[in-house]
Amino acid sequence: MTATVYEGVNDTSQIPAPEGSVTITVKILRFNPEIDDEPHWESYDVPALPTDRVLNLLFNIKNYVDGTLAFRRSCAHGICGSDAMQINGINRLACKVLVKDLLAKEGKQTTVTVAPIKGLPTMKDLYVDMEPFFEAYRAVKPYLIAYGNEPTRERVQSQADRDRFDDTTKCILCAACTSSCPVYWSDGSYFGPAAIVNAHRFIFDSRDEGSEERLDILNDAEGVWRCRTTFNCTDACPRGIQVTKAIQEVKRALLFKRV
Ligand code: SF4
Ligand code: FES
Repeated sequence: MTATVYEGVNDTSQIPAPEGSVTITVKILRFNPEIDDEPHWESYDVPALPTDRVLNLLFNIKNYVDGTLAFRRSCAHGICGSDAMQINGINRLACKVLVKDLLAKEGKQTTVTVAPIKGLPTMKDLYVDMEPFFEAYRAVKPYLIAYGNEPTRERVQSQADRDRFDDTTKCILCAACTSSCPVYWSDGSYFGPAAIVNAHRFIFDSRDEGSEERLDILNDAEGVWRCRTTFNCTDACPRGIQVTKAIQEVKRALLFKRV
């Protein structure tokens, strides 16, 4: 969907301006499927402290200017993965981006753009339909598979074996990686980086017996071979996961049948 050029400007005078705040312009790509044919930009001049997060600004706009502004969030602390959005064109969690890191050079007006992540259907404003993303996640069987021989105690694992997949355990399913991937934008049937990351987490787990099943799934035309190693996903990940490296490791496991 392409954005139209028209831009609304809103009255933000009711937003409290704490001491030390500066006024910044937040431009949000708005879309209400009940009244809009196309998304459009709306501008809000809002008071902001350097320590505010972009999520705080969105809340102020929602609470004091327009209660219909739609966005997802839950924890507000970078844990739940709900609030991935494009901030100044880059996929970020709104609760992790501080205003002080967005401020323009002294004397210049700061403008921050906020838009929904790409590649998933926009339901309203910054709120996208995550179902295609979770469908790909579920398809790689992101759970421990163990056949028979139920243990009578915990499944023991060496530190070295645990380290093998430590990085990919950190995923919070925010979709910042998948929605930054040009292959995913052009073909939504590609599993996408996040699904492969979550397959990696179990493929390289020494306690798991489902690696072959998952590798077969990812050997599909829409699987790992669609990755073009652009590194967008690694740059986008708010958890610092080496996403591209994980995808490469899955490719190598398929080529050499070695886990
Ligand atoms: S790998 Fe990183 S960017 Fe991708 S879904 Fe997981 S936490 Fe988000
Ligand atoms: S609201 Fe939970 S990660 Fe941002």
